[in-house]
Amino acid sequence: DRFSFFVGGNWKANGNKESVKKLVQELNDAKLEEDVDVVVAPPYIYLDSVLNTLTKRIEVSAQNSWVGKGGAFTGEISAEQLKDLGVEWVILGHSERRHVIGEKNEFIGKKAAYALSNGLKVMACVGELLEEREAGKTTEVVFEQLKAYADEVPSWKDVVIAYEPVWAIGTGKVASPQQAQEVHAEIRKWISDNVSAEASSQTRIIYGGSVNAANSSELAKQEDIDGFLVGGASLKGPDFAAICNSV
Ligand code: G3H
Repeated sequence: DRFSFFVGGNWKANGNKESVKKLVQELNDAKLEEDVDVVVAPPYIYLDSVLNTLTKRIEVSAQNSWVGKGGAFTGEISAEQLKDLGVEWVILGHSERRHVIGEKNEFIGKKAAYALSNGLKVMACVGELLEEREAGKTTEVVFEQLKAYADEVPSWKDVVIAYEPVWAIGTGKVASPQQAQEVHAEIRKWISDNVSAEASSQTRIIYGGSVNAANSSELAKQEDIDGFLVGGASLKGPDFAAICNSV
């Protein structure tokens, strides 16, 4: 349920065989508090080796999956294949896939539904660009992104929402605890108004964007911040463990 803190580490397209081995070793050696769900998302090509070497205490996620059944889709990986490998989670709708690759709301909503129907759990990302925030459109943009998921997914039971303001991702400009809390509370209310009170109280809403071992505790104190999606700082085992233990 939402009451166990949730921390995801998104490794993005970083690392090589050697650094992945080292990171897995650091994670295996880390002391993690009991009441926190921890998931890491290596690049596709390292998923199998990470699954085979990482402590079962930590779950494994992909960073993307194909929108439907596998087949003639060059370069894509299907939800069925991820399940076959033993992957439990997938990150969908990440801002880099939206704004660098060009994925649209509707496509992302369909991906989420397909992944869930194949037994994967989903970290469903949302978040506004700097110009959208400055234009006062943060909630409008985030609500549209949420609606695209809500239109497609039959249940929110296996969904974690990741709020990641794009201006905070990889920039070192973390959202203030108040800025993040404000949007998280709006997201929670949107789910209550548009999905159900149960989904609203049970769905974890995690924050991503320049989270590090020095700023995670203050963010974690906010009422509606139920965890983090960590990029850069998830590449260092001790830092990531400290973030996992920040409540
Ligand atoms: O998925 C993770 C986010 O994009 C955050 O990345 O922690 O490097 O800012 P970051």
